[in-house]
Amino acid sequence: MKIAISGKGGVGKTTLSSSLARLWAAEGRRVIAIDADPDANLAIALGADPALAAACTPLTQMDDLIEERTGAAPGKGGMFRLNPDVSDVVDTCGTDIDGVTLLRMGTVERGGSGCMCSEGTFLKAFMRHLLIERTDVAILDMEAGLEHLGRGTAENVDLFVVVVEPGGRAVQTAHAVRSLARDIGVSDVVAVGNRVRDAEDIEFLVGALGDIELLGTLPDSDNIRRADREGVSPYGVDDEYNEALRDIAARIVNMAAGA
Ligand SMILES: Nc1ncnc2c1ncn2[C@@H]1O[C@H](COP(=O)(O)OP(=O)(O)O)[C@@H](O)[C@H]1O
Ligand SMILES: [Mg+2]
Repeated sequence: MKIAISGKGGVGKTTLSSSLARLWAAEGRRVIAIDADPDANLAIALGADPALAAACTPLTQMDDLIEERTGAAPGKGGMFRLNPDVSDVVDTCGTDIDGVTLLRMGTVERGGSGCMCSEGTFLKAFMRHLLIERTDVAILDMEAGLEHLGRGTAENVDLFVVVVEPGGRAVQTAHAVRSLARDIGVSDVVAVGNRVRDAEDIEFLVGALGDIELLGTLPDSDNIRRADREGVSPYGVDDEYNEALRDIAARIVNMAAGA
């Protein structure tokens, strides 16, 4: 099962990604969590201490590995292989955080016509391997831009989940994400409402989302906020959030199975 989580900055993507990862790992599934947001903070949300989080090097910064596999170091240009072997990358570069394997993508400097560079090629090969060849559960914590996913790989994502708060701008971003997803060949986009406080919030979301299905909603939680301030994982700190999370996780599993 492969899930991509997207949405406006600050809506709760990383909180949801880390919670789903911990939940599915606790059920005994092998879970790979991918931090694909340049503003990376999934490691802490999964429960890593600052030292472990700092030790999670982004794939784009693994210069020696990229040079070994592609034939060219990042930023060097020149000739490089277009199909580097990345089959061992999850095992050798992943960091185990409370039973979840975390990998950080990192960022690629973009030239005018997209990236024709060894690190971009390495990342593409890794994404292809992760989404097409592996059978593990993969959760991609993304930004709104769907960076790192293109035609050919995006269609292997079983479900795109866009997180929204009950506010106009978050919903606007959800519609933008859906149209970006369509551009790369994906039609299955569903929404999860976060920081929902009452029936009016839900009513607003249902209306504003239009034909984007609202899969479920997560409550606004002081305990989740506190976990973030204390630098600990939000997983399991709030019973009400957790109960809603379990429902959403079950619906995602069902939808992904039908994909
Ligand atoms: N349901 C919630 N209730 C209260 N605070 C939340 C909730 N979900 C997320 N937050 C808080 O909102 C902030 C942004 O959440 P985060 O998951 O990092 O968003 P994103 O990854 O979309 O930028 C964090 O401080 C987080 O603790
Ligand atoms: Mg985030």
